Formats: sequence, structure tokens, C-alpha cells
Amino acid sequence: MEELIAVILAAGEGTRMKSSLPKVLHRLCGKPMLWHVLESAKAVTGRQVIITGYGSEKVREYFGEELFYLEQRERLGTGHALQQSLPCLPEAGLALVLCGDTPLLEKEELQELISLHHRSGAAATVLTSLMKDPSGYGRIVRDESGGILKIVEELHLTPEERVINEINTGTYCFNIQALKSFLPLLPKNEEKGEYYLTDLVHMLVEAGLGVKAHLVEDARLALGINDRLQLSRAAALMREKINERLMLEGVTIIDPASTYIDAGVEVGADTVIYPQTVLEGKTKVGKDCCLGPGAHLIDTLVGDGVLCRHSLVRESIIENGVNIGPYAHIRPGSKIGTSVKIGDFVEIKNSSIGQGSKVPHLSYVGDAEIGPGVNMGAGSIVVNYDGRRKHKTIIEEGAFIGCNSNLVAPLSIGKESFIAAGSTVTRDVPPGSLMISRPGQEIKKGLGKRFLQKKKE
Ligand code: UD1
Ligand code: MG
Repeated sequence: MEELIAVILAAGEGTRMKSSLPKVLHRLCGKPMLWHVLESAKAVTGRQVIITGYGSEKVREYFGEELFYLEQRERLGTGHALQQSLPCLPEAGLALVLCGDTPLLEKEELQELISLHHRSGAAATVLTSLMKDPSGYGRIVRDESGGILKIVEELHLTPEERVINEINTGTYCFNIQALKSFLPLLPKNEEKGEYYLTDLVHMLVEAGLGVKAHLVEDARLALGINDRLQLSRAAALMREKINERLMLEGVTIIDPASTYIDAGVEVGADTVIYPQTVLEGKTKVGKDCCLGPGAHLIDTLVGDGVLCRHSLVRESIIENGVNIGPYAHIRPGSKIGTSVKIGDFVEIKNSSIGQGSKVPHLSYVGDAEIGPGVNMGAGSIVVNYDGRRKHKTIIEEGAFIGCNSNLVAPLSIGKESFIAAGSTVTRDVPPGSLMISRPGQEIKKGLGKRFLQKKKE
């Protein structure tokens, strides 16, 4: 097999995005468009070169220094971008050229392109597509025998060419030898002041070297992203593909149109996802879970059999059989143990909750280590912040924290101790103790009724 190297053109500013962020860093389904292109490239070859330019430091920062980058200092068009790679290409073999703004093309389309290129023995093969609305794309002009003749950019179309609906996806396979001979000779398009890579096609045809076209059946996959409208359309399509894949793997998605799952998120079989659920980043969900309506999980590891309704969970670990919500907020650094209940209007931050414990209603738990079998009564609050520093609270196994207690950290509550409702706890409680701290109760017989009657008068 010939050597195959992928060259990804990602130096453009993306003026039509109207953004300070380089275009290829705009995200679809949680990942920059260049990430998606790179994933497809990695699936077909181990060698990739990324041409960066506008905002190159941001691109390198995101993708890290283990990738191979070349800088296009002046942005003089796609042909000029590919020229940057010439000194680094091997003497022979194939170059798969991809645009960093065409993120929907996957391994399958690239493999078909490469295998057609091999079969036909052409010097170049262009990946094309038939678009209902081809505006904005370069058009494929064919000769009388149906062979590809040239690619004409939108700006330079004649009225006859304008109706052509076969477009250039910006993805090509080139014999490296042909590239080495002809790419340096690419003329500058004077009108635009750019070197069009697309002009190389006509040069190769003129030189009598074979050029072929391979058509992508599903035109939606060829979508190039130049503005935010196209970004949202491509993102919608990518979401659809992610949801479809998960459903085929055994996940029930009640309403795919309102379910937003990032690329790379994993969900186990027999999990049911209700509408308005968002699964982001590095989230991994086990099997037999029930998420939503309205579950929002970010960078969270979820075990099996977890229930999560109308709640937000970030950068945390949720073990098997946990029941969350409605309306809970689990903040970064939390570890919720097996079969724990985190109920309504509860906020947990940077805390671990032991197996089978319950925080069922209206609580705040911050910087705490709660053992197994603990009950946090309604409205119990961990007072972790004294206005300057955060402090830790430890609640040992089997402790019972009465309703509306304030646990002022730093604090340790011993095993199987009982905190009476309404207490403010400021000192450590030894194991097995009853702790009560609240003002005494006075009863004035008959005074309540008299007071209410007075109010009516
Ligand atoms: C390009 C093609 C067009 C094709 C379309 C497919 C050319 C001249 N036109 O047009 O035929 O239908 O893609 O989506 O090739 N880039 C650089 N350096 C530059 C300019 C661009 O690296 O100097 C990169 C961009 O980052 C982008 C890619 O090349 O990833 C394509 O550039 P873009 O400006 O989007 O070209 P289109 O107008 O979309
Ligand atoms: Mg483009």
C-alpha cells in the first residue's frame, strides 16, 4: 500500500463567521470543527499535517504539540495553503487533502475516495456532491464525454456554469509526484489575489494527467461551514447522526430532536433519555439509566441504573442506582455513592456522599465527606465558608442530621450521632451523641388565639 498522508487546510480566518475565534475552532456537538475533520483523517491514516495560520496559537493550544503543524504566514488561498506542505511530503505516495471547515465527512466517504483513486490510477480525484442549492461552492465543469474539466469558483461563474449543481467538497486525493510538479506552478487569481487549489485540477487535465471525481451520495455530509447559519445546520445534522448511532446501540431516545449529545459521549444500552436532555464533554453514562426530562450532565461519569430528572451535574462521579432531582445541582468534584438520593432543591459541591445516604430536600453540602447511611434532613446546610476560607466537614456513617441544622465547618460529626432539628453545630460531635442547640420553647396558653382575634378587629 502506498504511503498516505492527510493534509488539513485550517489556516483561514473565516471572515464570514464574524468572530475573533479562528473558524476551525467553532464547535459542533461540543468539539471544534477541526477536531471532527482530524478524527476522520486519523481513521484512514496515521500521518496528518495541519496547516494553521489565523489564530494558529489558539489551534495549537487546543490540539496540543503532539500533532504536526505547518504555518501559512500569509493567507493567500487554499492553493497557497497546500503549497506550505510540499517540503514535508514524501517523494511518492498519496496526499489526502481536507478542508478544516467540512466536518461531516467521515471515514467511509474518505475511504471510498481513496479506493476509487487507487482503482482509476488518476493523478487526482476530487470528492464532489450534488447540491440543490450549490451557491457558494466551486462548481464541477465536465467535458462532453463527462470527464471532469475544471472547477470554477462562485465568483467567476458564467451564467451557464451557475446552474451546475455538482460542487467541489474541497476534499481531494493527489498523487504526491503530480503535486510536487504542478502545485508550485499554480497561477495567482488576480481578481481575488489568491492561489486557488481548485485551479490545479484544470492544470492536471491540460497536462494530460487523469483527474476523476467521486460523488458523495448524501449531499448533506459535504456541507462546508463558512458562516454561523451553516454551523447550526451542520451541528443539527451531526446531532442527528450521534443520536441515531446511540439508538442503534440500544439507547431509547424519546425525542431525538430535543436531545443534545456531544461527540464522544458514551451511553449504555437500555438507558432511556427523555426530552430536553443535554449530555456534554467527557460524559459517560452506564446502562439502564433514566435521564431527563431536563437532565444536563457535563464531564460526568454515571454508573448503571441512575435516575436523573431536571438537574445539572458537572465534573462529578455518580455511582450505580443514584436518584437525582428534580432540581438538584451537583457541582464539580463530587462523588455520589451507590444508591444515594439527592432530592429536590439540593446543591452539592466538591463533596463525597457515602452509599445509601440521603439528602432529599433543600440542602447545601459543600466540601464535605459524608459517610454511608447518613440522613440529611430538609433544609440542613453545611456552612463551609467563613467569608475568607473554605473548610471541611466530616459526617460519619449512620449520623442523622435534623431539619434546618447548620453545620459550621471545620466540623466532624461522629458515627451514629443525632443532631436535633434547628441546631447550629459549631463544635465536633462525638460518635453516638445527641446534639441539640436551640433556644428553649415557651408556651403561653390562650395568647395565640387572642392575638389572631386582635388582628381581625
Ligand atoms: C473552498 C473551495 C470551493 C469548495 C469549498 C467547499 C477553493 C478556492 N475553493 O471554498 O471550491 O466548493 O471550499 O467547502 O479552494 N484555507 C487556508 N488558507 C487560506 C485559505 C483557506 O488554510 O489561505 C483553509 C480554510 O481554513 C478552510 C479551507 O481552506 O478550512 C477552505 O477555505 P474557505 O475560505 O472556506 O474556502 P471556500 O470559499 O469555502
Ligand atoms: Mg469553506
